[in-house]
Amino acid sequence: MTEHAKIAAAPEDLEAPVTIGAEAYVSADYLRDERDLLWRKCWLQAGRLEDIAHVGDFVTFDILDDSVIVLRRAEGDGPDALRAFWNVCPHRGRKLVDIPAGQRNARGNRKNIVCGFHAWTFDLDGHCTFIQHQEDWQGALSDARTRLGPVKCESWGGWMWINLDPDAGPLADYLAPVPAMLDPYQLHAMRPRWRKWIIFDCNWKVALEAFNETYHVPGTHPEFMAFGQFRGWGRNQGLHSNIGYDAPKGQEEDAAKLRLGTGDPRVSTAEMQVFTWENANTNTTRTLVEAALRLQHELPEGTPPAEVSKHWLSSARAADAARGVHWPVVEPAHTAKAGTAWQIFPNFQIGHAVNNMLCYSARPYGEDPGKCIFEGAVYELFPEGEAPATEWEYTEAGDWPPVLQQDFDNMAAVQKGLKSGGFRGTQPNPYMERAIASLHWNLAKYMGRGAPASLE
Ligand code: FES
Ligand SMILES: [Fe+2]
Repeated sequence: MTEHAKIAAAPEDLEAPVTIGAEAYVSADYLRDERDLLWRKCWLQAGRLEDIAHVGDFVTFDILDDSVIVLRRAEGDGPDALRAFWNVCPHRGRKLVDIPAGQRNARGNRKNIVCGFHAWTFDLDGHCTFIQHQEDWQGALSDARTRLGPVKCESWGGWMWINLDPDAGPLADYLAPVPAMLDPYQLHAMRPRWRKWIIFDCNWKVALEAFNETYHVPGTHPEFMAFGQFRGWGRNQGLHSNIGYDAPKGQEEDAAKLRLGTGDPRVSTAEMQVFTWENANTNTTRTLVEAALRLQHELPEGTPPAEVSKHWLSSARAADAARGVHWPVVEPAHTAKAGTAWQIFPNFQIGHAVNNMLCYSARPYGEDPGKCIFEGAVYELFPEGEAPATEWEYTEAGDWPPVLQQDFDNMAAVQKGLKSGGFRGTQPNPYMERAIASLHWNLAKYMGRGAPASLE
C-alpha cells in the first residue's frame, strides 16, 4: 500500500492504527484558532427546548469570547418558533444579558431585552424598539445598524442548536446520519433527572475522550468486570462517531448496554442494576431497577439469559406504560447499528436508550487549553407533567456519582502527561477507541492541522 493510499483510506473507516500529536490538547495557539476555525463554524448544542417552553423564555450559551441568546419567539416548533442573537448590544458593545455569577448560563422570560448601559431596547425578533434621543443620530440609525445580530438556530432531538457562521448549511445536513439513527429513540420526549457542570483541569477533548470509548472500563472501573466483559467498538460516521458493545445477536433493545452479567442472570441483572443506580445514577431508571429486582420472584431458576433479558425489559416496559410512560419500540437490527452512544462533532455525546439517556459536553474554559467546562445530564421519560424541575448545578468532582469520579480522576493526569517532554503521541485502540481517531480527523478538517498519522 502506498503512503497516499493509506492516508486517503483512513478517513472512511479509520481502521488503521494511528498516532495523534499533543498539540490539539495543550497548545494555546491551537485553542485560539479553535475559536475562529471550529467554534464559530460548527453547529453547537446550546440547550434544551424545555428550558424555553413559553414565548419570551430565553437562555444564554457562551463559547470562548462569544455569547448567544436563544429565545422562544412563538409557540410550537415551526421555523419562527426560535430565535438566536449575538449577546452584544449594537450601541457600544455591552454584553446584553449578564450571566449571573457562578451560573452556567442566564435563563428567564422577557417581553423585551433592555440593555443595562443606555437602555436601548429590543423585541423578540431582535429589532431595536427604543433608543433614547434617537434624533441625535440625525436619521442614520437604520434597523440594520440597531438590530441584534442574528445567529442561526434550529432544533433537533429536543435541543436547540446554534451556528455562529452566517454561511453555515442546514443543521440536518451537518448532523447526518445522527437523526436517522437516533430519531427512533424519541429523545425529544425525555426530560432531565439531573444535570451538573464542573470546571476540569484538562482540555475539553481529554474530558470527552474519557467517555467515547469502552477500552477504559477494566482499568478505570474494575468493579464492573464482575458483571461481564466490556468489549466495545467505535465507528466513524462521517463528521461524527458512535460506540457500542459487541453483544450476542438477537438481544432485545438495550440489553447490550444494560448487560446481564455472569452467573444466575436473574441475580446478576438485579445486582448490576442496583450497582449502576447507586454508583452511576445513569444508564438506567428506577423502573428498570425495580423490574430487575422482581426477576427472582417472577422467573424460575435456570431461565436462560436471553429470556431473563426479554422478561426484564418487557416487565419494565409494562410497568412504565401503566404509569403513562411509553417507550418507543426500536428494532434490534437498528439498535445494533445505533450502538450505545453518539459523539456529535465537535463536543457533544448522547448515550441513548429507549427510556433514558446520558449526555456529556465539554468546551474550553477561558484561554487556558488545560481547562474546560464539562457538563453531564441524565434524562428519562416521565409521566406527563411529572418531570422534576432541574437546573444546571455547579459541582465539585465529589458531588458526582462515584463511577463518574473514577473517569474524572484520569483527566487532569492525562492533561499533565500530554505536556510531558517524554510523551510520543496518543495511540488509540483502532477498534475500541476509534471515536478518538474520528474526532481528530474531523478536527484536522476544520483546523487545517493535527491529522492523525499512520503508526506503521
Ligand atoms: S451599550 Fe447598550 S445601550 Fe449603550
Ligand atoms: Fe468510564
